[in-house]
Amino acid sequence: MSAGLPEVDSALLQKRIQELSLLTEATPPVVTRVLFSDADLHGRDYLRRLCEDAGLSVRVDAVGNMFARWKGSAPDAPAVATGSHTDAIPNAGKFDGVVGVLGGLAAIEALQEAGFKPMRSIELVVFTAEEPTRFGIGCLGSRMLAGAIPLEKVRALRDAEGATLDDLRERAGLKAPLESVALPENFYSAFVELHIEQGPLLEREHIPIGIVQAIAGPSAYRVRITGEGGHAGAVLMRGRRDASLAASELALAVEQAALDSGSPDTVATTGKWEIFPNAINSVPCGATLEIDLRDITLETRDRALMLMRQASDSIASRRAVKIAWEEINADPPADGDPRTMGITEDVALKLDLASTRMVSRAYHDSLFMARICPTTMIFIPCRNGYSHRPEEYSDPAHIAAGARVLAGTLARLSYEPL
Ligand code: HGY
Ligand code: MN
Ligand code: MN
Repeated sequence: MSAGLPEVDSALLQKRIQELSLLTEATPPVVTRVLFSDADLHGRDYLRRLCEDAGLSVRVDAVGNMFARWKGSAPDAPAVATGSHTDAIPNAGKFDGVVGVLGGLAAIEALQEAGFKPMRSIELVVFTAEEPTRFGIGCLGSRMLAGAIPLEKVRALRDAEGATLDDLRERAGLKAPLESVALPENFYSAFVELHIEQGPLLEREHIPIGIVQAIAGPSAYRVRITGEGGHAGAVLMRGRRDASLAASELALAVEQAALDSGSPDTVATTGKWEIFPNAINSVPCGATLEIDLRDITLETRDRALMLMRQASDSIASRRAVKIAWEEINADPPADGDPRTMGITEDVALKLDLASTRMVSRAYHDSLFMARICPTTMIFIPCRNGYSHRPEEYSDPAHIAAGARVLAGTLARLSYEPL
């Protein structure tokens, strides 16, 4: 036990990552676990059992956030939290989010094993719906915990089949009112999330620990294009009002706007397309695009959006189509808490692990936890920076090292003065 810090049971952690990865809507090793699908519900049951076996007291809130608490000697003091998500987008890997949940549990078990006694309780949080797949908006569970989304907006959400959150959470046996989700002031004293980097920097620089000092601000837009349909053979090319060609031009304009924003940190993706009627011999009369736009600074993100909207207006008039934009979400970036980052750095140092401060281009539940308590993230390398694809991979030694740094950080935060 170097530096008095407990070892994490890496073999058990790997076994659990593998077991959870088999709870998927896809064929293993591909992982897909969309909010409240059978795979997601089985995954929740699996995690709940692990937490209960570790002697943690478990509660689940009205939207499915799960809280597993290790009660400290100051049970009423604001607790220290860690955690992440286990939902997974279609065609994903087995580490995104899971490393922070199972690694967080492994960190708690390592502290228990070492005879550590927490003063502030330590709580593992499994956030519901970090991914936007089901309802189009990311971090639904942590947004609601932070009171960062009006409940009427939550109630208006519909999935592709038209189901509401209430329809789906009923199915999951969650009956409490949505008003009960938002946490009271000072519920947590700090939050630390362990996560794979989902980028190439740590692997390229051979640095085992990243300490996140800023999380890019995500925004998302749904764009509906209405043109005029008709018979693919009978409607001549001149004068066509083809919605899918307007969509294609707009997607290219989205790319160009990100490139012209004035910052290399602006990223924009048109990742979701629906064409209507989507028939080979029918001129598309409708198209719906979903655009993901992010940046570390709001000013260049706003500039990119302005360029997209200008391009959209010119496409609409040139092609005589209607283009309606709807904002799904537009969230500010979040900063890591200097004190919590310093503690994490210090723990890494004591474990002889090199660390570097960095930004996160992916968003995480930490983006919203940072609104309610001092927050930082611990990143570990992932192969080629791959994520949101089945080839996602993080080395067991890196995962164990990240969980050890997390354990040491949680132990220190648990004894922060009351
Ligand atoms: O899209 C994201 O940044 C996160 O992985 N949901
Ligand atoms: Mn993800
Ligand atoms: Mn994630």
